[in-house]
Amino acid sequence: MISLNDIRYVRLGTADLEGAVRYATEILGLQLARREGKSAYLRADDREHTLVYTQGNPGDHVAAFDLKSAAELESAAAELDRAGHAVRAGTRVECEQRAVDAFIAFKDPSGNAIELVNRPAHGGRRYFPSRDAGITGFSHIGLHSVSPRKDEAFWTTMCNARVSDWIGEAPLLRIDPVHHRIALFPSKRNGVQHINHQVESIDDIMRSYYFLREKNVKIRFGPGRHPTSGAMFLYFEGPDGMIYEYSSGVRMITDEAGYRPRQFPPASSSYCAWGSKPDIPEFQASPGSNG
Ligand SMILES: [Fe+2]
Repeated sequence: MISLNDIRYVRLGTADLEGAVRYATEILGLQLARREGKSAYLRADDREHTLVYTQGNPGDHVAAFDLKSAAELESAAAELDRAGHAVRAGTRVECEQRAVDAFIAFKDPSGNAIELVNRPAHGGRRYFPSRDAGITGFSHIGLHSVSPRKDEAFWTTMCNARVSDWIGEAPLLRIDPVHHRIALFPSKRNGVQHINHQVESIDDIMRSYYFLREKNVKIRFGPGRHPTSGAMFLYFEGPDGMIYEYSSGVRMITDEAGYRPRQFPPASSSYCAWGSKPDIPEFQASPGSNG
């Protein structure tokens, strides 16, 4: 069993690195930690970085999680290998770029590129963004899944993820008390489907709603409240069509033994309790496409 400790970072290719950095710092509210070659490393909290943009193919997405020790990383590599996943160990240069002691790279059953890291660096200093969006941290990702049941089995049996709720075929998975750190959305392709940052309060969500509209950033869903996690949210469009989310008030599941996941129907009411309609294909009910 691979015990994911926390979600760590997302790496994204982009056709326009300068534009992506401008968006991340001036619109999203991240802090530019460092530039290295064709990559920009950005912070959203205490961690050395939580998001990387690299000049290149916008279809290149990687999501990373950290494990608790070198021994766990080693046994994860062996377990993945035994299960038929091609595992690659990061080179020294790649580890330096990522500010980690070691990492391995592999693909989930849908073909999503995943990295598992050991001893990722702390930022050392406070996260200090140039735009105050009220961000308290990088918190979860949605992944496109071409086979949600297979992917769910991978994350919940190979790894320590637990289903918190389902919306249709889409499982919302936790690896710690936070309601979800990974969500798998039925799709025709793989890749990161959305990137979530928690913000301090509903005031930050509403402030950003007006700010983003003024900046002509496309709002894709919300403001609203998820009936599953209880979080209030706002989804909006980023560089290369990536969906970013701010949310606040996510439910903590502290009763591990007693908690039972709930099934929500694949309807927009399962995504928003306030009546907002998603302009996000993976969140739209499409009867017959849920198998
Ligand atoms: Fe989300």
